[in-house]
Amino acid sequence: MAKTIAVANQKGGVGKTTTSVNLASSLAFAGMNVLLVDADPQANATSGVGIQRGSFRRSLYHALVLDEAPANAILSTELPSLKILPSDRNLTGAEVELVDAEKREYQLRNVLGKLTAEFDYVIIDCPPSLGLLTLNALTAADSLLVPIQCEYYALEGVTELFDTLARIRRSLNPSLTIEGLLLTMYDDRTNLAAAVAADLRDFYGRQVFETVIPRNVRLAEAPSHGKPVILYDIKSRGAESYIQLAKEIMTHDKKSTRTGPERVVVGDSEDG
Ligand SMILES: Nc1ncnc2c1ncn2[C@@H]1O[C@H](COP(=O)(O)OP(=O)(O)OP(=O)(O)O)[C@@H](O)[C@H]1O
Ligand SMILES: [Mg+2]
Repeated sequence: MAKTIAVANQKGGVGKTTTSVNLASSLAFAGMNVLLVDADPQANATSGVGIQRGSFRRSLYHALVLDEAPANAILSTELPSLKILPSDRNLTGAEVELVDAEKREYQLRNVLGKLTAEFDYVIIDCPPSLGLLTLNALTAADSLLVPIQCEYYALEGVTELFDTLARIRRSLNPSLTIEGLLLTMYDDRTNLAAAVAADLRDFYGRQVFETVIPRNVRLAEAPSHGKPVILYDIKSRGAESYIQLAKEIMTHDKKSTRTGPERVVVGDSEDG
């Protein structure tokens, strides 16, 4: 059975797509069978793994809204064990078209239920909002990964995201856990980044990943070549950091299948 991780933060431009693409490809590179699900109408994860707009007929929209078999929409990528369920502009309408659907928040869970047996990990890239697509992702997921950009207003919105998480746990998905908070675009030359990181670790303790993603130009360049960073420049610090993140997640998953309990719960941070 696959483990499904939703990558979400309603704040725009914090590194959700960069994390989704590069975590998914690093897990695939480590030998895992991975499905990347692009749940954002902007379709940046789709183009980020080299799938060009207009080069495919079916997307997540067709599975989610038109109830077509999702397997027919899945595409291969340059990495043999990384597949993608792509997004296209149609998905913009999904938020509206799903409103009247019965159990509208469960549509993505149903779609993925038809697929997950084939995969070790499913990574969902969410749009920058707490709308119906993100709610569907959080209802379908086993855990939530929150990228947080190391800047002054970084924590703005995290409280709101965690309120949503608590609400989803009460109703739609009681077993949803926190995979972790991920510091992204970390610039170790600035005091501000260090201060934000320290605050976050003070407040959220072990819910923050040990791995930190540095600000790295290779990570920003790779999408314009339609490649995850490991295929663009595997020696870069950006590539190394996402390989490290994949290891951190896989190591934790191995431990928890042996010992059972989850690592972290919101409000359960050890360090404060
Ligand atoms: N670690 C990094 N170093 C340098 N540039 C980065 C890094 N992470 C992301 N970027 C760049 O920052 C921009 C925003 O990143 P990204 O698209 O991943 O964010 P997002 O949260 O998915 O945005 P949106 O909310 O619009 O979906 C992109 O141009 C991306 O290439
Ligand atoms: Mg994005």
